[in-house]
Amino acid sequence: MPVVVDPDPMVVETLLASMPAGSHGVESVDRLNAWINAHSDEYVVVLGPTLTDEEAVVTCEVLRTAAPAISTILAREHLTGELLAAAMKSGARDVVHHTDTNAIAQALNRAFELFVALRGPSGSMHMSKVIAVFSPKGGVGKTTISVNLALALTEKGARRVCLVDLDLAFGDVAITMQLFPTHSIEQAIGSEDSIDVEMLDGLLTRHQDSLMVLAAPPHPDTRERITPLLVSRVIRTLRETFDYIVIDLAPAFDEQVLTALDETDEIVLVTTLDVPTLKNVKVAVETFDALHIARDNRHLVLNRADDEVGITADKVEGILGMSVDAQISSSLEIAAATNAGSPVIVSDPEHQLSASIRQLAGTLAGDFVSSLGGASDSSTPQSEAEAKGRRSRRRK
Ligand SMILES: Nc1ncnc2c1ncn2[C@@H]1O[C@H](COP(=O)(O)OP(=O)(O)OP(=O)(O)O)[C@@H](O)[C@H]1O
Ligand SMILES: [Mg+2]
Repeated sequence: MPVVVDPDPMVVETLLASMPAGSHGVESVDRLNAWINAHSDEYVVVLGPTLTDEEAVVTCEVLRTAAPAISTILAREHLTGELLAAAMKSGARDVVHHTDTNAIAQALNRAFELFVALRGPSGSMHMSKVIAVFSPKGGVGKTTISVNLALALTEKGARRVCLVDLDLAFGDVAITMQLFPTHSIEQAIGSEDSIDVEMLDGLLTRHQDSLMVLAAPPHPDTRERITPLLVSRVIRTLRETFDYIVIDLAPAFDEQVLTALDETDEIVLVTTLDVPTLKNVKVAVETFDALHIARDNRHLVLNRADDEVGITADKVEGILGMSVDAQISSSLEIAAATNAGSPVIVSDPEHQLSASIRQLAGTLAGDFVSSLGGASDSSTPQSEAEAKGRRSRRRK
């Protein structure tokens, strides 16, 4: 999908609004290079007006030889003769005024036609991975971990990541990131059979660190109108354009949560070191076993793991029969970050939480990261029939 590069998040957002659904934004040419390395199916780059003419032209020149299948479009403030001549020499495919949405759309179409001519209509296969963050207990740190994990997975814009707030009654992803969504999953109610990438794109809110968020509805009673089929269609549609989908789940085994778990490739299970939580997490693990949910893809995170309460990580591993993948200590900065709406991984990359979450992101990404954009597809989502079959087996 098209990618736009500009250091100004507002400019990125404006340009993305006139680009096809699923387009991605990054803040620098460095991040663009990382994006291109991970996405061999990329076909067009839009270089935004905050980059200098020189930076934009040099980037075109580099891409002309390094990635000849990718078209470059210069979206500029001033279209001088000098710039046009330099752009032509550098191999830029188009030069347009950055506010001329028609010209941008036409340039993107031409780039796509060229891509299809070079690669064939299917291009290369897109892969995606769905990661659900769950705990049967409230208040243990699910949202904190979801938000920081999703940001870590973006690798500063090199991956396209969507964070879905499926805590449908009391979701607080938006407030934790200081976002003010105008839309949420609520606007998709009733669209089970018509939902597509374009429609869903209109419901997402962009966080300035290249992360897209599908917010929870603002009112708790909306939850009842969100059908399991809608949850499953939303996740499947997001899979079409995102590399990673991180889902912050409600602390319950209701129909929406079970449906999301059916669509999940990896589960991050969050616990704290208190007996009631551990007891409930143990029951959750037994439930996953009984329902055949992500049997070999579960990851345990101990939050507030330094609390002196007489239960050690070893003991937890013994009780749950799982090894601990990450431990996060109690820290005032984490609570303060939630209150400030500024996730620790961005505001304090050296913090212990940031290091633990980056490591967890590395484990979750694994080999998948290096093969993103490649042709093989080890994590192709199960068919809808398969997921349905599993759900109905479960209910028998
Ligand atoms: N390791 C930690 N140290 C200090 N505070 C933490 C830590 N982890 C989470 N918190 C704080 O605890 C509160 C609850 O965390 P969070 O919202 O992530 O939990 P949750 O499991 O999503 O809760 P809910 O079930 O209500 O959705 C937040 O204010 C958060 O900042
Ligand atoms: Mg939460």
